[in-house]
Amino acid sequence: MAEKVLIFDTTLRDGEQSPGVALNASDKVEIAQQLERLGVDIIEAGFPKTSQGDLEAVATVAKAVRKPVIAALAHAHPEAVDAAWEALKDAARPRIHVFLSVSDIHLMHQLRKNREEVLEMARTQVARAKQYCDDVEFSPMDAARAEWEYVYTMLQQCIDAGATTVNIPDTVGYTVPEEFERFIRSIFENVSNIHKAVVSVHCHNDLGLAVANSLAAVRAGARQIEVCVNGIGERAGNASLEEVAMAIRTRADFFGLETNIKPSEIYRTSRLVSDLTGMSVQPNKAIVGANAFRHQSGIHQDGILKMRETYEIMDARDIGWPTGGAEIVLGKLSGRHGFQARLEALGYELTDEELNRAFLAFKELADKKHEIDDRDLEALVADKMRTSEEVYHLDFVQVTSGDHATPTATVRLNAPDGSVQADAALGTGPVDAVYKAINRIVQVPNVLTEFAVKSITEGIDAQGEVTIRIESDGRSYVGRGADTDIIVASAKAYMNALNRLLSIQRRADSEVRTSP
Ligand code: KIV
Ligand code: ZN
Repeated sequence: MAEKVLIFDTTLRDGEQSPGVALNASDKVEIAQQLERLGVDIIEAGFPKTSQGDLEAVATVAKAVRKPVIAALAHAHPEAVDAAWEALKDAARPRIHVFLSVSDIHLMHQLRKNREEVLEMARTQVARAKQYCDDVEFSPMDAARAEWEYVYTMLQQCIDAGATTVNIPDTVGYTVPEEFERFIRSIFENVSNIHKAVVSVHCHNDLGLAVANSLAAVRAGARQIEVCVNGIGERAGNASLEEVAMAIRTRADFFGLETNIKPSEIYRTSRLVSDLTGMSVQPNKAIVGANAFRHQSGIHQDGILKMRETYEIMDARDIGWPTGGAEIVLGKLSGRHGFQARLEALGYELTDEELNRAFLAFKELADKKHEIDDRDLEALVADKMRTSEEVYHLDFVQVTSGDHATPTATVRLNAPDGSVQADAALGTGPVDAVYKAINRIVQVPNVLTEFAVKSITEGIDAQGEVTIRIESDGRSYVGRGADTDIIVASAKAYMNALNRLLSIQRRADSEVRTSP
């Protein structure tokens, strides 16, 4: 049996540090449950000291997701360690992850402390975390730019204080593979108690080397890699989960290692994270980008038709990619059983109510679009499964526009009190008119900060998928909607974002009312 490399996913913590991304507790639980299905070993669910909301979100994940280890981040301060434990105390397998800077540039200009003082803080807080739980991880932040000798000393002392995993971060994505491999080897050679801990790495992608550096570290003996789905994360992001996992699997001949990741869940996980964070996946992204398994040149297409392996090193179906419409297509005459069977084959387990809603939407779509493939189904299910949290429901939207017309929209919404409310507005364009008409009813001040539209499949009758981001009170909310009419898709996306905003506001209001 090949040795295992543990996959530590930090999409819910470092991934959430991507500019503009804000996940609420139910988003976090949905992603964590999918990460569990994917086979991730450790899920870092958040940084509880940063806000009460994040503390509660980590606690909710810890209660809902029982198989993987659930980690919470804490800087080396007693209150942060206590908050991490408060969030984790009901977890089946809790881990406190303590971090503290180790590079001179951070010590001098950020912490403004000397090396001895910093060592003392690291030791003390690891020991404090150890009083709460056995599983403690320590990260010397910015290790890749620090003096190696000082890193060895810090690791040695933190392992003595109880750390069971030591994680070497390349916080600013500065290192290169050969150098990082040497650094990790030197840690094994110079830290005498290193055998008592798992060595982990956490690489950022500022030079586009996060995956290469992580794999180099594994060659040197690291046995945990910290990653994010779709490679999201602070600045240029973290090492991408899917690239790391598929490199280890595809090149098992070279690495001689394996992970617990189930490749067939990769594509769905990528879609879910993209949906809930609003961060689109670039088309040429390895493994999960729209072009990752597309062949354009005649020579390549010819090779693929003769034998797939001529130009492909992985099979898209192993990664859970939908068929792309080539094999199974549903249409107007497809029945409920066929629809349900196809969804099950795609891995969706819908409740009866969700299935009813999705089937109605499927029938509506089939009236407008001749052939419905797996990509359409995915968009449709994503739409319908999330509408269960609706505060306002979009009942009707109608628009007039044109080069000689003033764009005008009428909308009708089902309000939370059961009433039906309608209004109309003029705008600079049809989307502006729709959003203004919705605003007249919902009346929640917000600013639209992003708007993107793309086609889900090929063809003139394709569904358009609209992703938007709105901001209100310093928080951002993502919304998505799909429809064959992109104005309707835009209205759905706006309602989706507004409903997220409203449900968070309602929860906050009820917390204020129920607190002593
Ligand atoms: O990049 C980094 O150094 C981190 C640490 C908290 C592990 O995210
Ligand atoms: Zn990081």
